[in-house]
Amino acid sequence: MSSVPMSIRIQKEMGPVSRDGRIEVAARSRDRQAESITTLEKGIRSRDEVLAIVAHDLRNPLTIIKSSAALLQLTTDEDQRKELLDMISSSCGRMQSLVGDLLDVARIEDGGFTVDRTDVDAADVMDEMRRMFESAAAEKGIRFEVDASGCVPPLYADRNRLIQILANLVSNAMRVTDRGAVRLTVEGDRDNVRFSVADTGPGIPAAELPHLFDRFWQVRSSRRGGAGLGLAIVKGFVEAHQGTIEVTSEVGKGSLFWFVIPGFNGNTVVQAAAVA
Ligand SMILES: Nc1ncnc2c1ncn2[C@@H]1O[C@H](COP(=O)(O)OP(=O)(O)OP(=O)(O)O)[C@@H](O)[C@H]1O
Ligand SMILES: [Mg+2]
Repeated sequence: MSSVPMSIRIQKEMGPVSRDGRIEVAARSRDRQAESITTLEKGIRSRDEVLAIVAHDLRNPLTIIKSSAALLQLTTDEDQRKELLDMISSSCGRMQSLVGDLLDVARIEDGGFTVDRTDVDAADVMDEMRRMFESAAAEKGIRFEVDASGCVPPLYADRNRLIQILANLVSNAMRVTDRGAVRLTVEGDRDNVRFSVADTGPGIPAAELPHLFDRFWQVRSSRRGGAGLGLAIVKGFVEAHQGTIEVTSEVGKGSLFWFVIPGFNGNTVVQAAAVA
């Protein structure tokens, strides 16, 4: 048995106790219970959302795979077999990227997500983006402009995650833009680097903007993309780089997403602060 009096033990465990310590302890315990219930409710809601996504977005490609595989067994026509195999392969790709997105969101939300930084050449990243999207833009009859003409500073970042951030933003912009252009720009200095993606698409109503980075959120009037996870992941990745992301938009004119992450010097400061 502990020889420390109860009131001191409570004080140690729970901070200062008021004149009527019991009331404060009871209030704290009620707060904790309320907190646990909120956490539990959040957990249940999150499980339901994930189940809804799994049921809808994973079942569709799975059904395509199943029926294509059944048809493959029946046909000997080479062209048809190739078409069916292509459908199976693209459905597998969709499932794979959705499962990857769900895992990324889960890691971001439970705080277990970390970035793996190395020296990154921003100009080289911009070239990769150009290669990734130029044919899709040409097919849609819109322009994809990549502007790295300003000062392109060195970066210390997670290259794969940076590509994922930019690909998410550019593919959203491409999907909604039917005429005009999508423009990707990088600029900055050794302290801060700013990437932006501007489009001449339909824009986003002001009332939707505060929810845009919530997972599973999709603008009601918009063309549906995937599961509504892309921007939540983008925000998580940007914040894991100690960066910030913002958006402005005007209905009928287009949208501008931009994020700022620490450049080479800025990053040294961030890292020194983390060690201190
Ligand atoms: N550039 C944009 N212009 C207009 N609306 C946009 C733009 N980018 C995103 N949105 C809206 O925000 C929603 C959420 O985007 P997000 O990338 O999170 O999900 P998604 O593209 O629908 O699916 P996913 O990215 O998971 O495949 C989109 O469904 C769309 O309604
Ligand atoms: Mg998206």
